[in-house]
Amino acid sequence: MRLLVCGGAGFIGSNFIRYYLSRHPEDFVVNFDKLTYAGNLENLKDVEGNPNYIFVRGDITDDKAVNDTIQKNNISHIVNFAAETHVDRSIINGADFVRTNVMGTQALLEAAKNNGGLRYHHISTDEVFGALGPNDPPFNENTSYNPRSPYSASKAAADHLTRAYFHTYNLPITISNCSNNYGPYQFPEKLHGLFITNLLEGKKVPVYGDGLQVRDWLYVDDHCEAVDLVLRQGKIGESYCIGGDCEKTNMVITRKMLELLELGEEMIETVKDRAGHDRRYAIDFSKIKNELGWSPRTSFEEGMKKTVEWYKNNREWWQKIKSGEYLEYYKKQYHER
Ligand code: NAD
Ligand code: TYD
Repeated sequence: MRLLVCGGAGFIGSNFIRYYLSRHPEDFVVNFDKLTYAGNLENLKDVEGNPNYIFVRGDITDDKAVNDTIQKNNISHIVNFAAETHVDRSIINGADFVRTNVMGTQALLEAAKNNGGLRYHHISTDEVFGALGPNDPPFNENTSYNPRSPYSASKAAADHLTRAYFHTYNLPITISNCSNNYGPYQFPEKLHGLFITNLLEGKKVPVYGDGLQVRDWLYVDDHCEAVDLVLRQGKIGESYCIGGDCEKTNMVITRKMLELLELGEEMIETVKDRAGHDRRYAIDFSKIKNELGWSPRTSFEEGMKKTVEWYKNNREWWQKIKSGEYLEYYKKQYHER
């Protein structure tokens, strides 16, 4: 395979490229990434010298750059991770979310179609399904779409476009809708990255509202394995829900971090809730389990330990990020709301 990985310099994309090259050393990977605030080539320092890997800086909304990259590298498959991904930023301003997540996806689909009908896998989220009450059954592939934030609305639009290219043009697509990922290299604006690094800096952690919102947590390597499997063995035209079998409240996650870092409850600061905060997400992943034999391997205990250890041992990585533009965002998000 000659793979175009879009958004490969971000959190999940960089973990995926590392995973993929180690499992399929005979394949060739082009990492196509705009390097927004969330893209960081330091995430891939260890694969830079691999002769089967190259990086191309580019924007997925730029049809010419996408086409040139596909043709020059004789690409056979596209996996699209590229997106604006942070809900809180989408609440401050959703314009980039529509541009990249919707228009960027359309540009990639068009390029896949015009270059002989390339195999296209789209990375989506469980947030397209909306929010669950405490006793609702988990989301599955048949759940109706009901996105409630500018982020999830833009991701939902991208999923619809992807399916439209299958039905209209027979483009060989698949989609995966995963739950919240955590693990190494997560940008320190999301729950794990932000809270663990704040605690390592001796700062409090800003828990929104009552902290009883529930997410399903998926360790990033498990997600990478599932994406690889869907790319190779998934049924064309179909979606797969990928979950971690790990529903937890934000308070439970926060307390686990405090325990692992031997810190007390005084480090918790409750702050104003997120606007339109989705109360609960949960995933039923029986389709991928039954059809492709995938289940998450990493337990909550193990995943949390590995993640906290990684941030402890990679201070330089996150300290560099937590400066510059990041400080502006932090001020706007946590002090000016
Ligand atoms: P991230 O924000 O860490 O990385 C996004 C990457 O996309 C960055 O490298 C960025 O530079 C790149 N990018 C952004 N706009 C681009 C553009 N116009 N052209 C080219 N590259 C561009 O995101 P992540 O957490 O790794 O998420 C990856 C994908 O997984 C996204 O599609 C996201 O919606 C989805 N997802 C993430 C989670 C999660 O918990 N992180 C959960 C469900 C789904
Ligand atoms: P996040 O990592 O932003 O992912 P998402 O909103 O896409 O699920 O947030 C995960 C949960 O953590 C969500 O319920 C919001 C909550 N949260 C806080 O309580 N405080 C924070 O500072 C952040 C970033 C998130």
